[in-house]
Amino acid sequence: MTTTLTGIQPTGELHLGNYAGAIRPLVRLAARPGRDTYVFVADLHALNGRPEPGVLRDRTRRMVAALLACGLDHDRVHVYRQSRVPAVAQITALLANVTSKGTLNRAHAYKALVAANAAAGRDPDHGVNMGLFSYPVLMAADILAMRAGEVPVGADQAQHREIAVEPARAFARAYGPGVLPEPQAIVPPAGGVLRGLDGRKMSKSYDNTIPLFAAPERQAALVRRVVTDSRRPEEPKDPDTCTLVALLDAFGDPAAAREVRDRYRTGGIGYGDVKALLAGQLHATLAPMRDRHEALLADPARLDAALEAGERRAGERAGETLRRMACAMGL
Ligand code: ADP
Ligand code: TRP
Repeated sequence: MTTTLTGIQPTGELHLGNYAGAIRPLVRLAARPGRDTYVFVADLHALNGRPEPGVLRDRTRRMVAALLACGLDHDRVHVYRQSRVPAVAQITALLANVTSKGTLNRAHAYKALVAANAAAGRDPDHGVNMGLFSYPVLMAADILAMRAGEVPVGADQAQHREIAVEPARAFARAYGPGVLPEPQAIVPPAGGVLRGLDGRKMSKSYDNTIPLFAAPERQAALVRRVVTDSRRPEEPKDPDTCTLVALLDAFGDPAAAREVRDRYRTGGIGYGDVKALLAGQLHATLAPMRDRHEALLADPARLDAALEAGERRAGERAGETLRRMACAMGL
C-alpha cells in the first residue's frame, strides 16, 4: 500500500487551473489500486497571511467541500483540516531540533522576501515572521507525520519537499533509521499549466482566473474576456497557442475539441463561436461537481461527518508517528 499525501492552502476560490493542474490528477492518482490517500487543507500554513478569522474558517470549509465535490470522497481518501490533527504541530516542534537554520535560510519564500527587502534598502528580515521562516518545518511535519511515500506537488513546491527530506535524514542519523521513512517518489501533477484570461498562467495572484464553481453565466462572461488575437473567422489559426483551445482540451468533450482544432487550421471558425462552445462545455463538465459542492455546503452535518472520519484517521496515523518519534528521542 502506497501512502499518498498532499495539502492545499485555503486561499481564495479554486480556479480551472487548480483543478486541471492539481486536483484532477490527484483524484486520478487516488483512484489507482493500492493507494491510501491523505489530503489536507493547510489552514495552519494559511495563518501566515493573517486572514480574518471568519474568512479563514469559511474558506477552509469551502475548500474541504470542493475537494470532496471533485471526487476525493471515497473510502481510501482521508480529507482533513491540518489544524485538527494536533500531532502535526507537535511533530513540528520535535523536527525543529533536527532542522538546521541554514536549510530554512535557503527556502524560496523566505529568500524572496529578504531579496525584496534588500532591493528596497530595508532590514533583511522586515516583515518576516517565524511562520514564514519555519514554513518548511511545518511542511516536513505534514509529510512525515503521515509517513507518506508519495507527495504530488507542483514544480513550484518541489523545494519544500526536498527540505522535508532533510529533517527525516537528520532524524535517522541522530535517533536511528526506521522511524521516519523518507518520501520516496514525488509525482509531479501531470496536468500541465493552464493559461488565464490574459494569456499568463492562470493564478489568483494575477487576477486572471475562471473560478471552478462560479455560476455558469459568470463563467461564460469570463470566457468572453479571454484574450485572443484579432484573426477573422475565415483566417487559419494556430490551435496550439490559443488559450481557448487549451481550455477546451482540459474541460471539453474530446470530439468537440478535435473538431475545433481542425476548423482552426482550415479557417472555419471565429473566436466568438469558440467562446460560446467552450462556455457550454464548461457547464456540461462542471455542473455535477458544482451541484455536489453546493449540496455539501448546504448540509453542514454531512461535511462534518466526512471531516470527522478523515481527521480521526489522520490523527491516528500522526499520533502513531509522534509516539515513535517521542520514544526514539527519549521523551
Ligand atoms: P495560484 O497560482 O492561483 O495561487 P496555488 O499556488 O494555490 O494557485 O496552486 C494550487 C495548486 O494548483 C498547485 O498544485 C499548483 O501547481 C496548481 N496550479 C495553480 N495554477 C495552475 C495553472 N494555471 N495550471 C495548472 N496548475 C495550476
Ligand atoms: N505548500 C502547499 C501550498 O502552498 C501546501 C502544503 C503544505 C503541502 N504542506 C504540504 C503540499 C505538504 C504537499 C505536502 O499550497
